[in-house]
Amino acid sequence: MKKTPGAVIVGSGIAALQAARHLAAHMNVIVITKGEIRQSNSYFAQGGIAAVLSPPDTHASHINDTLSAGEQHHVPEAVEQLITEGAARIRELLIEGFPADRQENGALSLGLEGAHSRPRIVHAGGDATGKWTVEHLLARLPGQVELRENELAFELIVHEGVCTGVKTKDAKGGIHEYKADHIVLAAGGAGALYSFTSNQETITGDGIALAYRAGAAVTDMEFIQFHPTLLYVNGKAKGLISEAVRGAGAVLVDESGKRIMQGVHPLEDLAPRHITAFEIYKARRSGKEVYLNMSMIEGFEKLFPTISALCSKQGIDLQEGRIPVAPGSHFLMGGVKADTCGRTSIKGLYAIGETACTGVHGANRLASNSLLEGIAFGRRFVKSLLEGENTIERAVPSVSAAASDIPPLFEKSELQSMMMESAGLIRTEEKLEALAGCLREAAQLKGDISRWPAEKIERLFMHTTAYLIAVSALSRTESRGAHIRSDYPSREDSWENTWITIENGQLNKRSGEHEWNQNRGSTESLFY
Ligand code: SIN
Repeated sequence: MKKTPGAVIVGSGIAALQAARHLAAHMNVIVITKGEIRQSNSYFAQGGIAAVLSPPDTHASHINDTLSAGEQHHVPEAVEQLITEGAARIRELLIEGFPADRQENGALSLGLEGAHSRPRIVHAGGDATGKWTVEHLLARLPGQVELRENELAFELIVHEGVCTGVKTKDAKGGIHEYKADHIVLAAGGAGALYSFTSNQETITGDGIALAYRAGAAVTDMEFIQFHPTLLYVNGKAKGLISEAVRGAGAVLVDESGKRIMQGVHPLEDLAPRHITAFEIYKARRSGKEVYLNMSMIEGFEKLFPTISALCSKQGIDLQEGRIPVAPGSHFLMGGVKADTCGRTSIKGLYAIGETACTGVHGANRLASNSLLEGIAFGRRFVKSLLEGENTIERAVPSVSAAASDIPPLFEKSELQSMMMESAGLIRTEEKLEALAGCLREAAQLKGDISRWPAEKIERLFMHTTAYLIAVSALSRTESRGAHIRSDYPSREDSWENTWITIENGQLNKRSGEHEWNQNRGSTESLFY
């Protein structure tokens, strides 16, 4: 067995574990996570995995739903890869014994979620699909994969334009340096930049900030999905109420019981998330409380054990037949600019899963396409790497080694409130400009941060990723998908197929920058 070269994967969600599993037969693999292995966002994912597994469903229908939900701001070839290869990968998992929920006759129990034209959501443990997918992958992880928990990756080592390693800090402040041929960022998105979020508190945009600080291009950072239904208790968001609950029949109502999605969209309560979240936001802004009326769902606690336990922990009596909800940040469609093989603008550096932006989710991700992405593109990355398609040559300025003083940083909760207020569901130039101004100094900071406490490094990363979101949202003077500007309320033709990319402090608007390379069978970025 070939034991070198090696790969270091930063992150421990589904994309990371899928990549680690398949790489391990060919090289040494180290998986590094800043928390614990079962703390990833993936682990707590409720809904499921969207996949076309049998007629009458078709790939074309799933592709179409994906493009409609994301308002056509996609790389269409990447979407096709996701849907077709993703379905093949899910079939493989099922053959291996993935414990998907089934009907009494043994057929898969397929759920329905927002903006899907038919039920195609594979789920496990009712509403614990993420947990069972992570457990499935962990159980098949070859023993030689080294798992390192509680280590924060704080710097990518880039030498003469090639990423050759990563530096980390452990819980005691000890510094580690890993050198490897392939450094893979799979650290999730940036949900915890917001005070209302479905994400784990560890999801602070680290992968994006790490890559950006090393000189990699990031793109589509203005597109943040707000999930319509987070459990809302005493003014705070307390976790996710899966869209699968609406798929099973629940409807959104105001406090008088009036349905708020009727007449708004043909799919009513299963409209694309940005539309549903916007309606809830408007109702709440006008002083109304919004509830998910789930009284019609028989056997709710059996169908949704995780959500039932969450509600019960928060003192919500399910017998009342309604759950109080509010929208909150859920998913980053943007991220480190990468192709569907994980290649970024820096040789040797890869990005997969939510950390990456491959153009697959457009301006608003379709429900349950994210676990699918982790499974499909985690595997695609490995295949391409083993086929030796990692031949990107590109010079990147090296980061200054001078020590940096710690600039004034906002407290975590203060930054989260600022993001919610100024870069949340509804945005304006005035608020975005003020926000970007507050974050600019930290985001532009260069130099050695190795002596900083981990908590300060994490906050610097939060400021950096938040800044990238703010300036991208400021630049896109239109509303498209999850990016809603009240001062530019329409979708503009002039912004069609236009991506905002930021690299080394330079913001560019590029049109049609991805292209399909038929010879390689992959999507490539024109400027790499
Ligand atoms: C949900 O269960 O509603 C979330 C699933 C997803 O984001 O795809």
